[in-house]
Amino acid sequence: MSMILAIESSCDETSVAVIEDGRKIHSNIVASQVKSHMRFGGVVPEVASRHHVEQITQVTQMAVEQAGLDSISQVDAIAMTYGPGLVGALLIGVTAAKTLSMVYQKPLIAVNHIAGHIYANQLVSEMTYPLLALVISGSHTDLVYIKEEGHFEVIGETQDDAIGEAYDKVGRLLGLPYPAGKYLDELAQKGEETYAVPRAMLHEDNLDFSFSGMKSAVMNLFHNAKQRGESIDPANLATSFQQAVIDIVTAKVVKALGQYPDVKQFVLAGGVAANSGIRKNLVDTIQAEFPDVEVVIPPLNLCGDNAAMIGAAAEYLYQKQDFASLMTNAKPGLML
Ligand code: KG4
Ligand code: ZN
Repeated sequence: MSMILAIESSCDETSVAVIEDGRKIHSNIVASQVKSHMRFGGVVPEVASRHHVEQITQVTQMAVEQAGLDSISQVDAIAMTYGPGLVGALLIGVTAAKTLSMVYQKPLIAVNHIAGHIYANQLVSEMTYPLLALVISGSHTDLVYIKEEGHFEVIGETQDDAIGEAYDKVGRLLGLPYPAGKYLDELAQKGEETYAVPRAMLHEDNLDFSFSGMKSAVMNLFHNAKQRGESIDPANLATSFQQAVIDIVTAKVVKALGQYPDVKQFVLAGGVAANSGIRKNLVDTIQAEFPDVEVVIPPLNLCGDNAAMIGAAAEYLYQKQDFASLMTNAKPGLML
């Protein structure tokens, strides 16, 4: 049995969790900074770092208490996200983890944030390989084939904007608060598909994505209508955008499953995995077209950034005794 204390601070959530065997959540405290960034319409890196500094100690204490531990000395290892993310934000979690590792003489485990998103699914259901993961977040859009544990192969990725970035920009255009993905999703459920939004790279023979052109197309629709003095129906525009995104994401997952017939399980990951339309469409389509593939989708609280997923991903590194040194630094551009 292993008990891991995990820290996540790559963007705008300060989070600490205590996870047993990479599968059981004893605590998962998430302190969101969304309110501080909202008025700027995006994450301000300096503000994010300052919040992490202010909150990390208390969030750690809360996680330890909620897990029912008397002391951090009761855990077996300390894990942290060391990339990718904002360098100043990552540094706070990395420094906190290295300090705890040194003070309590516990091994240190360096976790890739994207692997963390994928491993959020281990907290839901046993991951079975070969596995296909779709990571959709504010900064990533990756199709990842994992032949066996720890062997990540990115088989498709965005050529420009991340899917969450496109959601946030289109949402901002419609006057929705930051981060707009969730609000745009809610609005999309109230409208109809009346606007023509292009499906970028839909018919191309690869597994890559492109969202920048779609985002621009929606912006042009909006501004052209405004110039002509016509009104835009925000719900219908949201639905039209969301449907285009769903079509692309679903088509690429279907294509990937066709190209990798040995895949036993499909997992969804990342903040945009909270999207109601994407969840429903992927589940329905995979169940209909690939009935032998098990589909796992994390609950909403494990889609966005959290430390539980970092503790889940840390487990296989702990088992391999793949420990990090105290010289480990934040790696903002870390790849899978
Ligand atoms: O994984 P995450 O919390 O942070 C990154 O690592 O990027 O993802 C945040 C992204 C934001 O762009 C946010 O707008 C988006 O996830 N998001 C959604 C939904 N909930 C959050 N996008 C679409 N539909 C949602 N329901
Ligand atoms: Zn993330």
